[in-house]
Amino acid sequence: QIMQIVILKDSVEVAAYGANIFIKQLQKKADSVLGLATGSTPVSLYQQLIAANKAGEVSFAKVTSFNLDEYLGLEGAHPQSYRYFMNQQLFDHLDIDTANTFVPPGDADDPIEACERYEMQIAAAGGIDIQLLGIGRNGHIGFNEPSSGLMSRTRVKTLTKATIEDNARFFATDEYQPHLSITMGIGTILDAKKVVLLATGEAKAEAIRATVEGALSASCPASALQLHRDAVLVLDEAAASQL
Ligand code: GLP
Repeated sequence: QIMQIVILKDSVEVAAYGANIFIKQLQKKADSVLGLATGSTPVSLYQQLIAANKAGEVSFAKVTSFNLDEYLGLEGAHPQSYRYFMNQQLFDHLDIDTANTFVPPGDADDPIEACERYEMQIAAAGGIDIQLLGIGRNGHIGFNEPSSGLMSRTRVKTLTKATIEDNARFFATDEYQPHLSITMGIGTILDAKKVVLLATGEAKAEAIRATVEGALSASCPASALQLHRDAVLVLDEAAASQL
């Protein structure tokens, strides 16, 4: 199988389509290992998973999850941390056991050791069955910025100026915004059995073009998905407008 492209009308349809993939996965395998993402794109997909869980269509009781990335220097209780985001947007509303939800530890004393441990935790869980991704305007996945090694594993990454600016909207003007992250590597992401990337809006159109039609290159980290056997890109018309 190769990269599959699904083009839908708008972000509402994208979220519904993406949620359905996850619901089907959980109905097939209740103890699935999910790879999860932050950013604004997956929020409505998460809302649909919460609704499906409340309606009794799916249970998360046996699920384990691993998030892609976290800001280095923020503890989980910090409102800007991705751990906090995930609790607020998803975990607090599901029947999931939070002990089985993993986010890279932004407050680790030894971040390099924490990266190795995260890889071991993923392996111990049996690997990721299905990985959800958004995409940065510069083609980043997780916090794998352009120039990231295509075989890279979980590690500390410096954020680019563009990404810091894109994410500044979540921070107050005088608030500390981290410039470092812990992120799964591109190799880590490619190890997931299935990958689902969501992209909506005109601002993502160039990154999607480079991902699908560009060269396989570290200058567009998402282009590495061209190597994956089971990757699906779920796009709205605006994000697909340069294909
Ligand atoms: C952040 C995250 C990525 C995410 C990207 C796009 O930088 N680390 O995982 O895909 O932003 O975010 P948004 O969905 O808000 O456009």
